[in-house]
Amino acid sequence: MSGAAPTWVTVAPARRLRGRVRVPGDKSISHRYALLAALAGGTSTIAGYSTGADCRSTLDCLRALGVEIDESAAANATATVTVTGRGTAGLSPPARVLDAGNSGTTMRLLAGILAGQPFDAQLTGDASLRRRPMRRVIDPLERMGGRVEANDGRPPLRIRGRPLQGITYAPPVASAQVKSAVLLAGLHAEGTTRLREQAPTRDHTERALEAFGVPVDRDDGAVAIVGGAPLHPLRLSVPGDPSSAAFWAAAAAAVPDSDLTIEAVGLNPTRTAFLDVLRRAGAEVEMHVTNAAGGEPGGDLRIRSGSLRDVAVGPAEVPGLIDELPVLGALAAHGPAVEVSGAAELRHKESDRITALAAGLRAIGIRVEERPDGFRAERDGPPPGGAADAAGDHRLAMAFAVAALAGAGPSVIEGARVVDVSYPGFFAVLDSLRA
Ligand code: S3P
Repeated sequence: MSGAAPTWVTVAPARRLRGRVRVPGDKSISHRYALLAALAGGTSTIAGYSTGADCRSTLDCLRALGVEIDESAAANATATVTVTGRGTAGLSPPARVLDAGNSGTTMRLLAGILAGQPFDAQLTGDASLRRRPMRRVIDPLERMGGRVEANDGRPPLRIRGRPLQGITYAPPVASAQVKSAVLLAGLHAEGTTRLREQAPTRDHTERALEAFGVPVDRDDGAVAIVGGAPLHPLRLSVPGDPSSAAFWAAAAAAVPDSDLTIEAVGLNPTRTAFLDVLRRAGAEVEMHVTNAAGGEPGGDLRIRSGSLRDVAVGPAEVPGLIDELPVLGALAAHGPAVEVSGAAELRHKESDRITALAAGLRAIGIRVEERPDGFRAERDGPPPGGAADAAGDHRLAMAFAVAALAGAGPSVIEGARVVDVSYPGFFAVLDSLRA
């Protein structure tokens, strides 16, 4: 994490929010482009790469695997990254333990790539990541013939590279990280690797594999690849992260008389379910898809405030907006009651996002009923404001900031520096949008 952001930040109530904003490059897509570029036979250039700490962890791990990577800073918390790919069989045994930091995506996707290498590797992470469940990737990788040792199903992981065979697999959890780990292992496996998900999750890995020249069979809700295909180097551009845009979208929807445009943001349909919820609640949401570079639709989003109605999100919708549920809870500070069910997965994120979200929203003055698989949040008039602890979780820090905008008085976000995981500069942007 960069040391730029302070450990606590005071967030004043907002009168209204106006303006145009660009958000950092999409975190999920940045990871995937870097990983696939490392496996390609030649040099790829990735513009718009996220400068968040998570995506930096992926680059650091790849460097430890012998991949040459150059970075040059660009505007709006993005970088242009040049990756000299080593080919699918060209990674080197790491001389040190690979550190994924706070990033579950780095750990789970790399585990898929490393399972089929002709060497051993160890993967660890920070205290939060070391608490997160890894059995969900270990099980399918072992079915493919891999060997992964863990600490009671949690990191650190010791991956003993082995020849792999393709499998047909139905993950027991709806998780794009699990799907991606298995598909990436499938690149190095003999024969076909096929997955059928219980509910659709973000499909960036499928789109990125196709962009790098790997045939992907997507038929009837299943996805399959055949191992051994070469990856071709590419010039790529990462759209803005819709999960970062969600904080501005929610704030613009909820703060009266607001009008925000978020430019050049990713609008992949597997990531836009939160916008549907905002519309359902009564916000005006305009979406203009203007390009589809790398197979990823992107464009501008304009959000105007409305008088918001109560909203409920249930199990069918959850996989499509799992990362937006904290900021959805924050909407309750502004008026509508918010109810979420079927989201027990939230307990396995960077924090227990049900308990820690409830604690922070209550500190600001919102009533929250915590449930095993979700929560109900509502307010009794404008919340007084208070001190909310981000609990080491970037999305909670930003969600509490959005809740704080509705306060009768200011709030303090403790541990606010953690926003650097996905959105360096978040609080400065917030101040620039006040009108
Ligand atoms: C991600 C998938 C989701 C999401 C995470 C990023 C990805 O996790 O919460 O922030 O890039 O594949 P799960 O796959 O565990 O649901």
